Amino acid sequence: MIANPAPGQPAAAGGPATARAAVRVAGLRKHYGSVIALGGVELTVEQGEFFTLLGPSGSGKTTLLRLIAGFEQPDAGQIELGGRVVTRVPPYARNVNTVFQDYALFPHMTVAENIEYALRVRRIPKSQRREKAGRALEMVRLSGLGERKPAQLSGGQRQRVALARAIVNEPELLLLDEPLGALDLKLRQEMQLELQHVQREVGITFVYVTHDQEEALSMSDRIAVLNLGHIEQVGPPMEVYERPRTEFVAGFIGISNLIERAGRQMTVRPEKIRLLADDVQPPAGFAVEAGQIRDIVYVGVLTRYVIDLDAGGELVVARQNDEEPALSQDIRGARVRIAWRGDQAFTVTRDPEAGHGPDADDGLGAGHGPETGQRHQQNPDPGHQER
Ligand SMILES: Nc1ncnc2c1ncn2[C@@H]1O[C@H](COP(=O)(O)OP(=O)(O)O)[C@@H](O)[C@H]1O
Ligand SMILES: [Mg+2]
Repeated sequence: MIANPAPGQPAAAGGPATARAAVRVAGLRKHYGSVIALGGVELTVEQGEFFTLLGPSGSGKTTLLRLIAGFEQPDAGQIELGGRVVTRVPPYARNVNTVFQDYALFPHMTVAENIEYALRVRRIPKSQRREKAGRALEMVRLSGLGERKPAQLSGGQRQRVALARAIVNEPELLLLDEPLGALDLKLRQEMQLELQHVQREVGITFVYVTHDQEEALSMSDRIAVLNLGHIEQVGPPMEVYERPRTEFVAGFIGISNLIERAGRQMTVRPEKIRLLADDVQPPAGFAVEAGQIRDIVYVGVLTRYVIDLDAGGELVVARQNDEEPALSQDIRGARVRIAWRGDQAFTVTRDPEAGHGPDADDGLGAGHGPETGQRHQQNPDPGHQER
C-alpha cells in the first residue's frame, strides 16, 4: 500500500531554504457532475500539526482528503506535500497513509500480522517488522494483544489497531476521515485523547476530518471550517470559536447567537453574557440590552437562558451552575438586563443568500474569469490562513 516516495518535481517556489509545509493546497477545485465538491481551496498545514477539517456533511471534507491522498484527481489546482508537487503523483508514491471510519482489518490475520502487513509488502526483514509492530502496539496501548484476531477485540481496540497499522511505516502525513465516527460517545472521548497523545509522540502531521465541533476544538492545533466546498476560516480552536469571522462559523461551532445591530450581523458567545441583577450597574465598557426570558434550559453544568431582546432578535445566555442552584422555571417571562464586554462581540460576514447550491453556475462553465473562485471567500486577506 505504501511505497517509498518517488522523486517528484520540486516545488516551484520556496526551495529547501524555506520551511516546507507538510501540505500546501492552492486553487483546488473538484466537481462531480453539477455538484461543486471543492470550489477553489487554499490551505497550508505545517509540519507536525494536528490539523482538522471541520464541516457539516457534504461540505467537501472527504473530497479534500482523497485529493491529498491521491485517490482522486482535481479539476484544477495544485497539491504539495513536504515541498514536493504531487498533484499527478499516484497514491502509492505519496508518503501518506489514511485511516477511515470503517477500518477494514484482515480478519484472518492476528493483530500483529495486520500491523506488519505494510512492512511485509515493503520487504522489511522479519526482526525489524516485529520490533516496529511492537512499538506501534505499545503506542496505541495494545501491547500483549498482538496474537489476537480482530474479532476478539472491541470496536475501540480495533480502531487502535487501524491506527497502529497506519503509523507503523512512519508516513510523513496521516489522513484520518472521521475515524471515531462509529464509536459511542465515551469511547470516542477516550480515543480523542489517545489520538492526540499518539500524534505528539510520533510527530507525524495529522489531517483529521470530523463534523463534530467539540472533537475539533479539543484535539486540534488548528481547524479549517468548511462550508459547501469552501474554507470559511482557519485558525487555532480558541480563535475559531471565540472570533468567528462568518455567520456560518458562528453558527456551526457553538450556538450562533447572532443579532443585527446598526445594519451589521453581530455575534457574542453565550458564556460571555451576564444576567444583571436589578440593582447592579454594568461595569464600564459593557454593552447592555433589556429583554425578556423566553426559555430556560438546564443542562447540568450550566443553564441556558433564551432572551428575547427589546431591540430585536434573541440571545442565549449560559450561566455556570457553580454555586446557586439553577434559577427555577418560574422566571420564564421575567424582564432582564443582559450585558457583555464590548470586545466580546464580533461583526461577522453574512452568509451569501444565493449561489451556494449545486445548481449555481460557479465556475463550471467555460469563460469564467479567475475571480470566480473568490466569490464565497469571506476574508480577502490572503494571509489569514497562515499562522
Ligand atoms: N463520487 C462522487 N460522486 C458524486 N458526488 C460526490 C462524490 N463524492 C462526493 N460527492 C459530492 O460532493 C460533495 C462533497 O462530498 P464529501 O467530500 O463527501 O463531503 P463530506 O466528507 O464533507 O461529507 C457532496 O455534495 C457529495 O454528495
Ligand atoms: Mg466525509
